[in-house]
Amino acid sequence: PTFLSVANFATVLRVRVPELLEKLQELGFENITNEHILDAETAELVAEEYGFEVNRDDNLGADLFPAPLPTDDKKLKSRSPVVTIMGHVDHGKTTILDFLRKSSIVKGEFGGITQHIGAFVVQTPVSKKKITFLDTPGHAAFLKMRERGANITDIIILVVAAEDSVKPQTLEAIKHAKASGVPVVVAINKCDKEEANPDKVVADLSSNGIDVEDYGGDTPVVRISAKTGMGMKELEETIVTIAELLELKTEEKGVVEGWVLESQVKKGLGNVASFLVKKGELKPGCILVAGTTFCKVKVMKDEKNKIIKVAMPSQPIEVSGWKELPEAGDYGIQAKDESFAKKVIINREKRKRMMEEASQIEEMNQRRIKAI
Ligand code: GTP
Ligand code: MG
Repeated sequence: PTFLSVANFATVLRVRVPELLEKLQELGFENITNEHILDAETAELVAEEYGFEVNRDDNLGADLFPAPLPTDDKKLKSRSPVVTIMGHVDHGKTTILDFLRKSSIVKGEFGGITQHIGAFVVQTPVSKKKITFLDTPGHAAFLKMRERGANITDIIILVVAAEDSVKPQTLEAIKHAKASGVPVVVAINKCDKEEANPDKVVADLSSNGIDVEDYGGDTPVVRISAKTGMGMKELEETIVTIAELLELKTEEKGVVEGWVLESQVKKGLGNVASFLVKKGELKPGCILVAGTTFCKVKVMKDEKNKIIKVAMPSQPIEVSGWKELPEAGDYGIQAKDESFAKKVIINREKRKRMMEEASQIEEMNQRRIKAI
């Protein structure tokens, strides 16, 4: 068992309860009675003190997906960058995204902008390369992705309004970018305004730890106006340049992996989730597990509401066929069949319950210690 009382543990160790209590006190556990519940770590520590070799059964802790196979460099194909915009309130994140979204719509495509899947792809005006832009994901989803030690985004655009300069959320964004190690492109927005003072923004960013290009650093700075379109081409091309330096690559074949960006119930379609493919080719019929639910991919649509048959890495799509709504920030992995997907989920649910029980017991212990 993962949790056991001092009395039971004494039996397991074949020592007398008072002796075990003494030992626990020696180890720094105070005010412990024989009904006290020990957590796994403490039990392990004590057992080792008594010369037992601890063999932890971690089976329940492990996910059922087989460990990832080593990647074969020869199978790697280049992929387009995934970009997120961050910055202070009102500095123009939405306006920039709208400008890019509109510019990516070819004349004659209807309903292009209305479809919202939390991400869209543009083709750059000069180099004709693709860039995937993510609508600024919710904070919680972002943190969840970070917890997994992975970055959903390859490049961060740090937007700062030219007349307002560095503000609290600018600093937040800088902190986030540094923590994730993702390269930054600075976009000084609203340069069309009379009060604009882009040079001050550059100076302020520099004194806040951004290694700006203007002062000889590596971080490109582009002066733009999302309102007039000034500098927007340059912004896109700068992203392409950075992406090329990053040499972004992934496996196009093999098990599909990716992120859930958001999810909702849609009329006529049921549970849908927008999904960003990271690896592999997603096709209808694929089984995807995310969190504690799964999906047999029914219909896939791009951001322009067009049905597509294959989604490639870095491509965001809307996927229908989910049994339940997955959560934004969930990592999705392809399972070989439905029965395996169900097994993975049962295991995850069991694990979740155990973690909940563990924290309840921990809380109980804390309260008891306080009460004594
Ligand atoms: P939040 O989502 O609230 O954090 O704001 P945001 O960063 O998305 O800013 P948003 O795009 O909503 O822009 C805020 C205001 O600035 C709007 O009134 C825009 O029209 C305006 N604005 C955005 N970009 C520019 C620009 O380049 N020039 C000028 N003059 N105004 C701009
Ligand atoms: Mg906005």
